[in-house]
Amino acid sequence: MEGSEAIRPDKHEMTTVPENWKDLGPVTGMEKRGDVFICRTERGGAAALFTAPGIFRIKFFIGSEADLAQTIAIDPAYRLKTESGIQAEEKEGFLIFRSSVMEVELEKQTFMITVRDLDGSVVSRQTSISFDPRGGARAVYDMPANSHFYGLGEKSSFLDKRGERYTNWNTDVYAPHMPEIEALYQSVPFLIHRSGEKSCGLFLDNPGLTEVDMRSHGMAYTMGCSTGAYDLYFIAGPSMKDVVMRYTALTGRIQLPPKWALGYHQSRYSYMNQQEVLQLAHTFREKGIPCDVIYLDIHYMDEYRVFTFDPVRFPDPKAMMNELRELGIRIVPIVDPGVKKDPNYRVYREGVQQEHFCTKLEGDIYFGEVWPGISAFPDFTDDRTSNWWGDQHAFYTQYGIEGIWNDMNEPAVFNESKTMDLDVIHRNNGDMKTHEELHNAYGLLMSKATSEGMERHMDNRRPFVLTRAGYAGIQRYAAVWTGDNRSFWEHMALAMPMVLNMGLSGLAFSGPDIGGFAHHTSGELLVRWTQMGVFFPYCRNHSSIDTLRQEPWSFGPATEGILRDYIGLRYRWMPHLYNLFHEAASTGLPVIRPLVLEYPEDPKVTNLCDQFLLGDSVLVAPVYRPDTDHRAVYLPAGEWFDYWTGDKYEGGRHILAECPLEIMPLYIKAGAIVPEGMLMQHAEEDADETVTFQIYGAEAREGFTADYSLYEDDGVTFDYRNQVSSRLHVSLKGGDGMLHLSYEYDDRRYEANRNLLVFKLRYSGFAPQGVEGLHAVTAEQLQGGMEGWMLDEPGGELCIQVHDRPTGASWVIRTGE
Ligand code: GLC
Repeated sequence: MEGSEAIRPDKHEMTTVPENWKDLGPVTGMEKRGDVFICRTERGGAAALFTAPGIFRIKFFIGSEADLAQTIAIDPAYRLKTESGIQAEEKEGFLIFRSSVMEVELEKQTFMITVRDLDGSVVSRQTSISFDPRGGARAVYDMPANSHFYGLGEKSSFLDKRGERYTNWNTDVYAPHMPEIEALYQSVPFLIHRSGEKSCGLFLDNPGLTEVDMRSHGMAYTMGCSTGAYDLYFIAGPSMKDVVMRYTALTGRIQLPPKWALGYHQSRYSYMNQQEVLQLAHTFREKGIPCDVIYLDIHYMDEYRVFTFDPVRFPDPKAMMNELRELGIRIVPIVDPGVKKDPNYRVYREGVQQEHFCTKLEGDIYFGEVWPGISAFPDFTDDRTSNWWGDQHAFYTQYGIEGIWNDMNEPAVFNESKTMDLDVIHRNNGDMKTHEELHNAYGLLMSKATSEGMERHMDNRRPFVLTRAGYAGIQRYAAVWTGDNRSFWEHMALAMPMVLNMGLSGLAFSGPDIGGFAHHTSGELLVRWTQMGVFFPYCRNHSSIDTLRQEPWSFGPATEGILRDYIGLRYRWMPHLYNLFHEAASTGLPVIRPLVLEYPEDPKVTNLCDQFLLGDSVLVAPVYRPDTDHRAVYLPAGEWFDYWTGDKYEGGRHILAECPLEIMPLYIKAGAIVPEGMLMQHAEEDADETVTFQIYGAEAREGFTADYSLYEDDGVTFDYRNQVSSRLHVSLKGGDGMLHLSYEYDDRRYEANRNLLVFKLRYSGFAPQGVEGLHAVTAEQLQGGMEGWMLDEPGGELCIQVHDRPTGASWVIRTGE
């Protein structure tokens, strides 16, 4: 650890010689090639185009022309329209590019770029761009007083990034994650700049080192890169949601995960042997705590050689896997990129002989030290190597393994720089580049190779890949966990803004190690963290070697009981959760959301990040301090129901929520519908059984509506890509003192294996009397599967149970009004 010596005055004298940064100079000419406009100056210029009406790309160059090659961040499925028909207009010293969504004006004399929306409001302005003699570039942007910043992927500190400065350079940070840490494992140089009502996205697509600084330049902020091209995308709003949807159209969206990956995951560094893993699985089942996945950390391998099992610790993986399968538990093993240097090890030998490892220009393999000792690192920038690596995963799929955990893929190396030498060469499919230029893409490329390799060997089943490192676009291939946090209350609190901003940056499937990885958790911290964690997209409890155990039963029966209930809640809400994942996969909108995304006009939520929304209508307010039995909760506009008590609150204000240890404050918006399934022990148990639509705060007045559209498919295969899926629409409408309830399917190409649908009217604003066309039944008859309706007490909650008919149905609910 550093002492005060770190701030000795002589270390901080201004010794740096100001370098000769130069701008581009005035525009001397412009030409159009297809859809691309090339603007030239004496020193260089820029190539610009609309890649979509709401996305303006400008790639700067010094000297010769910019090539418009895109990086791996851009979704290969994102196709450039061949002819947009967009023309540039030249007017009084300006070049003006206009699409149906935005207008970009380039001042010829200064090269200043102003982006406007169609109302003419300025949403972004690049006042200058300059280049240093060593190949770096930095642009300056206006930062009006009402600016706020979001996105940037996995960063520490609060939600709003105004006043922060960050570096994007994938780094293995075992030191505690704190506000002053500028770079973590992931790099997503994508910023949402919100100014007043309007938002605009800026994506600097450069997988080398990039920097953003919203701290040091007064009313301006900067974005720069230290090598490679300044390739910038301006992404139109006007809302933050528009920006997120456009950004994820460009860089891709999550793949719909297999349902089991949405379950509860249990991990530790390490479950040391076959017996321990089986014992763990049986304990989950004996205790009735749902669980879908157990992780194998590095000790499963034979001296940390990837694609092996330790013959002593795991003598019969097949038998272990079969026994786990019976219990409905899957294994996800860790796979790191470092391949042990060992001439007797097949993977290493093949890698050397077939030239798959990263080398120096002179041809020597680059070796670095990681867990297995001296290791070589596959060059995932080359498709040939990625295919080879991907196919190694047949080793796992032969055991029925369907998920892989990629770690240390920054890549982490045990040396001073913590990574590969910058002058390592990447073959990059013939377009050779240095590691310095591609560092941040390494982890993404490893997970891409893994995901694609697993898919090739899984016979139409969906793989799950988890990664620590990544770059913009990683969401297409892997879920992300936030690396080595600690069992600190502060780290639990930090996980909220971090994962919320990751969600705004395309990484919709993310989460921290629940309970904290390093240091020692406590029963109370584990409870509070799990209560929050079961609402995060990715839900894994993981802890480090030599720390207190933190399996759900580690702190006695009271703690265990609370954890069982909350993990169970995640499983009951699986239909809702899966629906939100489907939404994320199709629109890019995150599964959990900061309030500012849904209530942008509310100034109280600009930087609110100790509570969040699951989807748009469930508000989660975790308790993130010890010995706390009350917390302030901000309820935005609308009416909200306390999930636990049914108490109703008018929003637009703070309330003080009571939260003894077993309660995490949770609120449902009036008019919302949350579909619940059965309580399962794993995601495939009784999948598709009865779904209960919990309808909150129905009213019989004219104009009241509640709607939900439930997406379903088999949850395991890729058949959904051929539209083998279904949509079930539920609607409830008020009027004339009655309510009309209906459901219908469209596109029912997937048939859920289900007999019953249930609709529950919770905390209605009227006294339900009955349902026309259905009989009143008793609780026992409902239990027995009979159709009908029931009030739990006179004037109480109405429960309607019907057979699930492909044709749908509708009813009128009578009220006492
Ligand atoms: C890294 C990972 C951690 C893992 C450990 C051992 O620290 O971040 O999750 O348990 O390596 O593989």
